Amino acid sequence: MPKPRPLDPEAKPDDRVDNALRPQMLTDLIGQDQVKENLHILIQAAKKRGEALDHVLFYGPPGLGKTTLAHVVANEMGVNIKITAGPVIERAGDLAAILTNLRAGDVLFIDEVHRLGRAVEEVLYPAMEDYALDIVIGKGPSARSIRLKLPRFTVVGATTRLALVTAPLRARFGAVYRLDYYDPSAMQAIVKRAAGMLKVPVEADGIEEIARRARGTPRVALRLLRRVRDFAQVRADGAVTRKIAKDALDLLAVDPLGLDDVDRRVLKTIIEKYNGGPVGLNTIAASISEEQDTIMDVVEPYLLQLGFLDRTPQGRVATKSAYEHLGFEWREEGQPRLL
Ligand SMILES: Nc1ncnc2c1ncn2[C@@H]1O[C@H](COP(=O)(O)OP(=O)(O)OP(=O)(O)O)[C@@H](O)[C@H]1O
Ligand SMILES: [Mg+2]
Repeated sequence: MPKPRPLDPEAKPDDRVDNALRPQMLTDLIGQDQVKENLHILIQAAKKRGEALDHVLFYGPPGLGKTTLAHVVANEMGVNIKITAGPVIERAGDLAAILTNLRAGDVLFIDEVHRLGRAVEEVLYPAMEDYALDIVIGKGPSARSIRLKLPRFTVVGATTRLALVTAPLRARFGAVYRLDYYDPSAMQAIVKRAAGMLKVPVEADGIEEIARRARGTPRVALRLLRRVRDFAQVRADGAVTRKIAKDALDLLAVDPLGLDDVDRRVLKTIIEKYNGGPVGLNTIAASISEEQDTIMDVVEPYLLQLGFLDRTPQGRVATKSAYEHLGFEWREEGQPRLL
């Protein structure tokens, strides 16, 4: 779904804060240096030639800045952005209506682009490739198709699941960028910037603690910062020291590596119930009553990155590091035992 605008009265307070903190231009963006450099070249080249930007696809786990980048692209190009999402465009006609309302150069941001329906995608292909819209008039034997010209526009797509983007759609994006988890220094800079904008008095140690537990994800960092700020105001004088950050995050059950309750339940289930695995994703999801999608999009990428989880053809396997982190005794064979 499109995110609410900054002063949207419907927006929840946290959404409004997030939107206000959203970097507007490439230079405001922290981290993702390679993506930024490539985008800079892409944008400058298009501007020099006076052309619309080629279609761009961003993919990666949630909260790393895909939506933010879509806005940045439009801001850098100095064009309008229209926002929609795969599941929102139900019929081909919905997309046709959106396309015919675009102006030259406009960015059409399609979030969750992997969830576009087949018939909608068929309309999108010629629109992206030839800037053309094929419309069928009439029904049955007298039906005929006419081709409408569209202005040159730019599709910016975003997805957390590149594998679910169909090959023909993927092929129509001239640039495909993967967003990765942010490194610790970028995370610290993001927390620091947000604290500055929110006027939260925070010590360098406090920033470090929040950044470290934010699983390399700016959205998580912003959320933790807000919760730590609450804690500091209620339990102390408002200043965020390392101790305050640590106590607040412990209370929120966010552990020193940033694992939360769901992450731990996933690992514990694999270890305790399935002897370390391999076990299928659907079985894990059912065991802990969580959505498979949440586990796949949010939990697994981070556990894989930490080296706590392996994906094998037989299913998910908890690694030795996962056993150790959770305090289980690691054995090649046999039931795990809590130390
Ligand atoms: N590089 C960055 N520097 C500073 N803040 C950032 C950066 N990237 C993202 N953010 C902040 O993190 C929040 C989440 O980013 P964003 O909404 O763009 O993520 P997303 O990848 O679109 O997530 P989803 O997959 O859930 O849609 C935003 O509020 C934005 O302010
Ligand atoms: Mg988004």
